[in-house]
Amino acid sequence: KIFNNSQIASAAVAKEIADLIRQRQQEGRSVVLGLATGSTPIKVYKELIRLHKEEGLSFSNVYSFNLDEYYPMQPDSVHSYVRFMEEQLFNHVDIPKGNYNIPNGTLAQDQIAAFCGDYEQKIEDLGGLDFQLLGIGGNGHIGFNEPGSLENSRTRLITLDHVTRAAAAGEFQGLRNVPRKAITTGISTIMKARRIVLMGWGEGKSQIVASAVEGPITDQVPASYLQLHSNTTFVIDEACSSEL
Ligand code: GLP
Repeated sequence: KIFNNSQIASAAVAKEIADLIRQRQQEGRSVVLGLATGSTPIKVYKELIRLHKEEGLSFSNVYSFNLDEYYPMQPDSVHSYVRFMEEQLFNHVDIPKGNYNIPNGTLAQDQIAAFCGDYEQKIEDLGGLDFQLLGIGGNGHIGFNEPGSLENSRTRLITLDHVTRAAAAGEFQGLRNVPRKAITTGISTIMKARRIVLMGWGEGKSQIVASAVEGPITDQVPASYLQLHSNTTFVIDEACSSEL
């Protein structure tokens, strides 16, 4: 779906999420969201906050699982995705504190495998992801599933690509400060979601979005796996559609 601009597109995505939350509320059920960080989803979160404040949208029945976190990473660091999510969304809505989950960047190496298994199990115990929100990295990564990630991959510790670290160098005041690793949910974790929306804004993402949508399905462009998912929409703005 191509929208005139990212503002209108983000409002449409936020509305879909809000409708799902409200529908589940009416049925007395909870909803499980897969959430993303980065600059791409910020306007969606802003709109969800507006819907909460102005239209009474409640997040009391929402559980969420974020895609990823740098490793190692302290949650109060300015670079932490915990801090990002709290600042961009959670602190401004009524989601119960224990309902949101973000991979833990503070674990010792030997605790990571068990943590990742528990993360997957927790998603399953809640009935699986109803809705997965995604951005896309310049190299086609989703979450931090870098090129080479396999279709059956699950939540795990991954070594970040040079391209990914270089893209983050500005925020970290230099490449050497960017963590070399991250914990990310896997391709299979994402693909099990009942609904997936990948968003892309601007000309800078146009080439990789075209490869993901129209190119071969390959582990070299992890977002291309989404071609195999029956309920995925790429939501992009005009500029991002220029290579399609
Ligand atoms: C990071 C995140 C991804 C995100 C990507 C794109 O690598 N781990 O989940 O999709 O950045 O970032 P942006 O939305 O800022 O372009």
